[in-house]
Amino acid sequence: MSSNHPKAVTERSPQERRLDEKEARRDQSRTQQARSNHDTPDTDGETVQLKVFRYDPEVEGKKDPRFDDFHVPFSRGMTVLDALIHARDHYDSSLTFRHSCRQAICGSDALFINGRQRLGCKTQISDLDTPVRVEPLPHQDVVKDLVVDMEDFYEQMESVEPYFQPDELPRDDLEEQRQSRENREKIKKSTRCIWCASCVSSCNIAAGDNKYLGPAAIVKGYRFYMDEREGEEIAERRLNILEQEHGVWRCQTQFSCTTVCPKDIPITEEIQAMKREAVKENLKFW
Ligand code: FES
Repeated sequence: MSSNHPKAVTERSPQERRLDEKEARRDQSRTQQARSNHDTPDTDGETVQLKVFRYDPEVEGKKDPRFDDFHVPFSRGMTVLDALIHARDHYDSSLTFRHSCRQAICGSDALFINGRQRLGCKTQISDLDTPVRVEPLPHQDVVKDLVVDMEDFYEQMESVEPYFQPDELPRDDLEEQRQSRENREKIKKSTRCIWCASCVSSCNIAAGDNKYLGPAAIVKGYRFYMDEREGEEIAERRLNILEQEHGVWRCQTQFSCTTVCPKDIPITEEIQAMKREAVKENLKFW
């Protein structure tokens, strides 16, 4: 009897072996997933208590600030924003707060959660003590519930001309505006700012001086001033804006802005760097 054909039939090709292994990995991951779902089901009757600040100056009976309690079904991976959305959609459609991207990019849901500025969409309920206290950002006027007036903040940001203004543009439309690796490293962290205003809200100086440029605008100034591609004239103009009476010198290096920044920007360090630039600019040698 020939011994050729059994070998050809039983041996798996490398391609088949890879597919088998892939299938085995998939089975394993399904089993693990099922186990973990069993351990912590999405909703197992557990609820989380939210104490949410409420205020509506336009509705009789709601003009006095108060806290409302919401008991929201807890699910694994739930963020404070998820819980607020659940409360609004299931219990009180008048509950008002800002949100958009739900992934810590747009900066619209900065809130004062358990006594600290945080992004609602980035804050896990499971990391917080309960009841979870949710308030609007301190030191800003409240428009309604958790929504604050951002007008002053945007004006401060605009005042440092937060956009790129090079002296020369590349000649060709497709040519890049090149930047050295070192320079990119220098400004990299400051480019992460998402205009959430957490830093400004945490700053005691900004709370007492509404003309103070504030940490976010200074960081924005740093981001463009330190960019080697910026034009000379605008760099000088921007430095003048930053070193004005209510600019960088107001900062008392309390580090609260750095502590609460959801993007881990070393804000205080960058404000100090701008102070050094201002000193260098004003040094005169006779
Ligand atoms: Fe955009 Fe949280 S919803 S940062």
